[in-house]
Parts: sequence; structure tokens; C-alpha cells
Amino acid sequence: MPTKEVLLEVQNMYKNFGATVALNNVSFTLNRGVVCGLIGENGSGKSTVSSIAAGMQPPTKGSMKFKGEPWAPPSMLYAEKHGIGMIVQEAGTIPNITVAENIFLGHEAMFKQGPIINRAKMMAATRELLEGLGITNIQADQPVRELDMQQRKVVEIAKCMYWKPEILIVDETSTALSQDGREFLYSIMAAQRDNNRSVIFISHDLDEMMEQCDELTVLRDGVIIGTVQKADYEPSLIRRMMIGREIQGNYYRDDFDGYSDEVVLKADCITTMEDLLCFDLELHKGEILGIGGLSQCGMHTVGRALFGLEKLVDGKVTLKDGTKINNTRTAIKNRMGYVSKNRDTESLGLSASIMENIASTGYDINRWHGPGPLISNRKEKDYVDEQVKELSIKCASKYHNVNTLSGGNKQKVVFGKWIAPDSEILILDCPTRGVDVGVKAAMYQLMYRMKKAGKSILLISEELQELIGMSDRVLIMKDGEVRLEMMRTEGLTEQKLIEYMI
Ligand SMILES: Nc1ncnc2c1ncn2[C@@H]1O[C@H](COP(=O)(O)OP(=O)(O)O)[C@@H](O)[C@H]1O
Ligand SMILES: [Mg+2]
Repeated sequence: MPTKEVLLEVQNMYKNFGATVALNNVSFTLNRGVVCGLIGENGSGKSTVSSIAAGMQPPTKGSMKFKGEPWAPPSMLYAEKHGIGMIVQEAGTIPNITVAENIFLGHEAMFKQGPIINRAKMMAATRELLEGLGITNIQADQPVRELDMQQRKVVEIAKCMYWKPEILIVDETSTALSQDGREFLYSIMAAQRDNNRSVIFISHDLDEMMEQCDELTVLRDGVIIGTVQKADYEPSLIRRMMIGREIQGNYYRDDFDGYSDEVVLKADCITTMEDLLCFDLELHKGEILGIGGLSQCGMHTVGRALFGLEKLVDGKVTLKDGTKINNTRTAIKNRMGYVSKNRDTESLGLSASIMENIASTGYDINRWHGPGPLISNRKEKDYVDEQVKELSIKCASKYHNVNTLSGGNKQKVVFGKWIAPDSEILILDCPTRGVDVGVKAAMYQLMYRMKKAGKSILLISEELQELIGMSDRVLIMKDGEVRLEMMRTEGLTEQKLIEYMI
């Protein structure tokens, strides 16, 4: 085989955002004709290094070479025109202009005749481009706002492809695409390879990465851990590279310790408008009680009802001292916490800072000694700092908006918000949904520590492995009823649970 030609070289690159070190001496090479995957946890630096190569921002230090020449693109438009195009993780189109105007945004001068932009020519060029890519459900003169999310991503892909990039960078695009859209994207990536051009592909889905990429480069905390060639792919190896330890053994708990007989939370024949009819449940001290089932089985309603979020038509939820939980204020006052399945709408104030979100559960705790409702700034700051540190929430500052964080770090903020007030009972509804392995592992460890400290956890989950891996007892629900109750034993299998779900 001839030696491969190097297309891009990144040399000793650093990027700082305030105190955050996003890239810490990153060096790697990309050869021609290769689909290279960049993989790593949220916040490991994948978008940062890609966007620097694509001219969206300069590095703090370090250099690049593209086709053997120094490469320091001053803008994305420049990079696009000279051979490196990127489909960004966020939405990259403007809704109120047409598909054609989006595709040629910033390059309108190409169609200038005298002082006037020849729109008809722009439309024709767009039609030709879409046709060439086999895109039939998008029209050149359509305003982008009429398109759905998937079609908008396809417009971005087309926009990139117009310039026939030698390096196409695809940053977390496939999650926005359905199967059809993905196939389309994969075919474009394969064509790049066949034409001796290259791709940098970023996705959260390890299976997808292993399938589509010729090699995988792993980033962790802004450092390149290594590159694995397709022949050597091994999921546990790659995961270990991503989080720096073998996770198979300690991903889930591996003990069979029981829990106390003491009932700390009880649902007595609770009935809701929909979903539940005379439903009973007991949660014990030091227990992780798992509830699984299909998404409509009523398990999410159980979680909401226990936290006082559902109106009960009949029955009651009580704590061990008899306190009735019928609204969230009583629940919180009695040291209960709830992590909603709908994190962004129910668990977080997205327009508030990390600080404000975590501190929101501490008003009673962080009060000034004297009379009145004043909050001690010192206490509140410590209350928040401890969680940011303990949970390794990756943020440049706790005063930043929580919306600037990755999904995994947002979820850590939600956990922090409930751990800070030392909650005795935690209701977790799909707590690890959409977070990557590192954050998942951290959450499992946290749940286990809480259990060991005598706290009680209700884990509602759509992932059977997680239920089996973490629960002391598992309930499987169907049509609002418990169909199966299993204790934590070595014989607990997914197959067994599935039988009762469907
Ligand atoms: N514009 C920015 N301002 C401040 N911090 C940023 C910015 N962009 C990225 N970061 C931080 O840099 C780190 C790497 O981020 P990023 O490259 O987006 O990671 P990835 O794409 O691997 O999830 C993270 O800690 C992130 O919070
Ligand atoms: Mg990213």
C-alpha cells in the first residue's frame, strides 16, 4: 500500500476559555481518504478543535498545516472556500431566508452582475446542487422556516458540499437526523473517502462511530488519548480511553447488600386522572427501588405523584412520620428531591445561572443567622461550590447560564441541586438519559453512595440494564399496574423483565 498523504496536521494546539482549558497540547494528523471519528465525553474538546480547523475561532496557541501549507483560516467562509467545511452542532441555518440564500450566505458576490445579485442564477445553482446530491424534498426558493429540523440539517450538508470540501467536518449531526437522513449523510461521507477526500465525524453513538469511521481518535479533557484503527475496535477499550478506567467492573454496583425494613415513603391506593388506579408502593430506607416498563406504562406518573406533582383523585402518599405529600413544597421541605425526565423544562431554570439553579433548594439552609429571610452569601456560595466540585461540573464559572453546559453537565447541576440539601429520598426519572458514559458512571456511583448512607432512591428507567445493575428491587409496570416484582439476585435478566413489559 502506498503511504498515505497527510491532509491536515494539528500541532501543539491549546485553547483556553477563561479558566477552562478546552484543548491542552493537541496534536494529530488526518490522512487523505480517511473518515476519522473524534470521540470523547461531553466537554472533551471535540467541537473546539474542529471549529478551529474550520476557521470559526483561532487557537490560543499552536498551529496547523493543510496540504503541507500553514493553515490559519481567518473565518469560516474562508475555510469553506479553501477546502475545510463544517456542519456545526447547533442549528446552522437562518429561518427567514430561502434555502438558496442560506446556501450562499456570505458568498453572494459570486452572483453579482454589476451592483446587482442575480437571484435567478443563485436559484439555478442551488437547484443544480440539490439535484446533484439527490435531494428532492427541498426547494431552492423555499424559506428555511418551512422546513423541519432534519431538512434544515440537510440544507447545511448541501451548503458544505457546494464547495467540494477536502475535509468535511460533521459535528453531532446524526442525532438530528432520522434513519433516512443518516443514510444520506453516510453516503456523502463514503463518497468523500472514495474521492480521496476526508471526513472528521463526531457523534455520541459509539456503535455508529465504529461502523462509519476508519479510525477513532479519543479526546479526554482536551488531551488526545490515542487513535484506534478499525481493525482494533473494541468498545470496552474505547470506553476505557474515554473515561480513563475500565468501566465494566464498576459501572454498576456489584454488591448484593440489602436494605432496611423501615418504610420511608408509602403510596396507598393512589389514583390519578389517568394512568393509575389504586396503586400501592413502599420505599425503604437504604433502598434503590427500580421501576421499569414501556414508556406509557404509568411509571413516570408514579414518580410525579410521589413528589406531589400529580393531583390524586384518591389515596395518599405519606412519609414515615405520617406527613402527607400532596404538593411539591411539602415534599421539598421534608427532604425529598425529584429529577424529572424532562430536564430542560422541569428540573432546570434554563435562563438562570448554575449558581441560581443549585442554590434554589437552599433558601432555608443558607439563611442568615438573625431574623428575617436574608440569605447568607457566604453560605450560599459554599453550598454551590461544594456541588460543583464534588460532581466535577465542567464550567468556566458558576455564574454562567446553565444553558451553556452540555447535557451531561446540566444533569449534574440537577443532581447537585438535590444533593446539596442532603435529600433523604430521591425520585429519579430517567436520570441518565442522553448523558454519556462518564457522567453515567459518576451518577451510578453517587446513587450507590447515597444508598450506603441510608438514603432511599426510586429509580424510574427505560433502560433495563441500568435497573438490573443498580436496583435492590425491581418493579415492572404495565397498564398502570405492577406486573412483576423481583429482588436483586444474580439471576435477574433482561429477558425475564421484558416478558412482563409487553
Ligand atoms: N465559547 C466557549 N466559552 C466558554 N467555554 C467554552 C466555549 N466553547 C467550549 N467551551 C468549553 O470548552 C470545553 C470543551 O468544549 P467542546 O469542545 O464544546 O466539547 P465537546 O464538543 O467535546 O463536547 C468545555 O469545557 C466547554 O464548556
Ligand atoms: Mg461538541
